[in-house]
Amino acid sequence: MIAAGRTVLLTGGGGIIGRAMTVELAKAGHRVAVVDRDLALATAAAQQVDSTAAKPYECDITDRDALIDLRDHVGSALGPVSALICNAAAKSENFFDPFPEFPLQDWNEVMATNLTGPMLCAQIFGEPMAEAADGVIINVLSIYGIVAPDQRIYDGSEYEGRPINTPAVYSASKAGLWGLTKYLASYWGSVGVRVNAVTPGGVFSGQNETFVAAYSQRTMLGRMAQPEEIASATAYLMSEGAAYVTGQNLVVDGGLTAW
Ligand SMILES: NC(=O)c1ccc[n+]([C@@H]2O[C@H](COP(=O)([O-])OP(=O)(O)OC[C@H]3O[C@@H](n4cnc5c(N)ncnc54)[C@H](O)[C@@H]3O)[C@@H](O)[C@H]2O)c1
Repeated sequence: MIAAGRTVLLTGGGGIIGRAMTVELAKAGHRVAVVDRDLALATAAAQQVDSTAAKPYECDITDRDALIDLRDHVGSALGPVSALICNAAAKSENFFDPFPEFPLQDWNEVMATNLTGPMLCAQIFGEPMAEAADGVIINVLSIYGIVAPDQRIYDGSEYEGRPINTPAVYSASKAGLWGLTKYLASYWGSVGVRVNAVTPGGVFSGQNETFVAAYSQRTMLGRMAQPEEIASATAYLMSEGAAYVTGQNLVVDGGLTAW
């Protein structure tokens, strides 16, 4: 017998925010297919909860055939997917290169995961939801798809020993994903598939003090986000409490984009 809740396909489930989403969604009674191109990360995320609540899957979301196989595997293990969270995002090898010499190969690689991947996922997992007249899709954006990064906060900023910035491809891919979100909300609204976005602000994950201080000052709440604070917004959009919410962007950024 299938328990209450949805079968959720969560991409990038092995990452910082994906791990927190796995816990939050399992807590809300959903079954989570934790999908990542790194199986070890997906497995670690799934192991945080009961084995009936989450299962790990290795899949590159830019590979259409692999997504079709994934739909079959998840369907037989957890039941038909009725919720999709497109959370995966890629950091290519030269991700932090300056704009003028940013390699085209890196541009294409990031676009493929951040924008084309969610489109493919929507084709493969959204269409059956439309046929079943029930489903929820959530795309994970970024504040830098809404506003430009303040270049001044990257002075002296480091993460894992490397200088960091936000490349143009990241902003462009996330802005595009917001366009796709609204398009799909309109396309499938009349058949009961809700499509929304969650926009996280910067999540603390070990950035150096210089960055944390400079970033925190840009927010109204004076701090970075915790992954759980993004996960709970996703769980809300998935819930019956959000039954009349579609085509919206829930911005969880401590106020950064509001002033
Ligand atoms: N962390 C933040 O501060 C922050 C802020 C704003 C938005 N976001 C967004 O939130 C989402 C999650 O971010 P995160 O910090 O957890 O990132 P993360 O890098 O920790 O996790 C991303 C995961 O996606 C996986 N992935 C990458 N390419 C893939 C592909 N082609 N197929 C399948 N899996 C793939 C990676 O292996 C990784 O586990 C992303 O969309 C990101 O852009 C994050």
